[in-house]
Amino acid sequence: MANRAIRDVRLPNGLLFLFKKAIFNVAWGNTPVFFYQKVNVSRLFQTDSIEAQEIYLDNHATTAVDPRVVDAMVPMMIRQYANAGSITHEPGRRAARILEQAKGQMLELLGTPQGDLVFTSGATESVNLALAGVCLHPRQKRRSLLIGNVDHRAVLDCARKLHKSGLSVQSLQPQQCLQVQSSESQESSTPIGAYRIESLQEHLSEDVALVSLILGNNEIGSLQDMRPVADLCHSYGALLHLDATQAVGKIHFDALSTGADLVSFSAHKFYGPKGVGGLLICNDQVKLTPQIVGGGQQNNLRSGTLNTVGIVGMAKALEVAVAEITTELPRIYQLRQQLWKRLQSGIDGLKLNGPSWLEDSRSPRTPLERLPGNLNVQFPSVDGQSLMLRVPSVALSSGSACSSAEPQPSHVLLGIGLSEDQARCSLRFGIGRFNTASQIDLAADLIISAYKELVDFVG
Ligand SMILES: Cc1ncc(COP(=O)(O)O)c(C=O)c1O
Repeated sequence: MANRAIRDVRLPNGLLFLFKKAIFNVAWGNTPVFFYQKVNVSRLFQTDSIEAQEIYLDNHATTAVDPRVVDAMVPMMIRQYANAGSITHEPGRRAARILEQAKGQMLELLGTPQGDLVFTSGATESVNLALAGVCLHPRQKRRSLLIGNVDHRAVLDCARKLHKSGLSVQSLQPQQCLQVQSSESQESSTPIGAYRIESLQEHLSEDVALVSLILGNNEIGSLQDMRPVADLCHSYGALLHLDATQAVGKIHFDALSTGADLVSFSAHKFYGPKGVGGLLICNDQVKLTPQIVGGGQQNNLRSGTLNTVGIVGMAKALEVAVAEITTELPRIYQLRQQLWKRLQSGIDGLKLNGPSWLEDSRSPRTPLERLPGNLNVQFPSVDGQSLMLRVPSVALSSGSACSSAEPQPSHVLLGIGLSEDQARCSLRFGIGRFNTASQIDLAADLIISAYKELVDFVG
């Protein structure tokens, strides 16, 4: 009936299409926006006064795209837009050459020029490809996977799924706060949130196919020397995968010297675009079974048209991050110190969650125990969410971006030995490239006064 009515109106083809679409939208309860509102995309980029006053301190969740990255991406959209798989024509071959160049550059910058790199949609996909790809490979004889207990949900949930399909999954407990306090006299204690080598040894066996650990915890910033971890894994014939999503572009990262076989990362964490990432393959013995099948792109390891715009942006973002790390790392380190000191001076009893750091350590070469831009603190007797609501102009979070809307306390904070109450009284700060010293002071002052108001309010 509806179709007949439309045909009777005898509209030109284009209008007929719009008209049919409107009827369809109305029928399905959608609003036919194009009738009354022309979407003005440029309006979305105008900064209003509220936005201009915002202080973004959630750089673990994501980062702004650096304007230099945008400049590198634009020509890929409007000139080199051909499909890199269309090698029957020159524009396609040109796009393929650009991608090869970007890949070679990234492999160099990540310290593994002889390695391979699979482009993905981001770290979640890379992690899935690493874990399921290794464990479910038809020639994989080993039936066990070992993961870190305070790792990102991309790893935990993928491991859970693999467990359901019959794989044995074990998880390592990280170093907890109390363990560190009781072993303060020992010289080389493992940073809070990192994994003890002895504990790894207890869990390793000839049946473990893969060990997956986080490098740079996304909530408490814990870092650790992965070389001994890799050596131990290899002595049992197990592979090591690092979820280095928070570390790549933020610290000096050299894949070969970590000894890892696989490394996951994501461009939007280092001032590149969202929706693109990579899985680095440092060992040519690694066998992966693809998780996304289709057109056979990337040697069948990950089908789907290559995201030329995103990949070029990611390569540029990595180039900028690596070029500037020597100056950027101590700057961010200094800002974190400033924030911590200012908050501490205004809030009695404020506690640090996660590893401490050397206050005089400004050298970018000093081994770090914590991501330089990360600060996670516990506010005495005040709920973190309530505090956040009182400082709407400061963008922070109470945990990982994917679980920050969840009411339950962070598994990372519980995992390092905090009580549920302590975890609920905690907030995470992520300082990044575009933050300034005056923003840090302003954010700290706003938080201190909001905290005091809440304390007064509660009595
Ligand atoms: C440590 C870690 N791993 C994995 C991910 C998932 O990354 P993506 O958003 O690119 O899928 C994140 C994102 O927050 C992360 O912090």
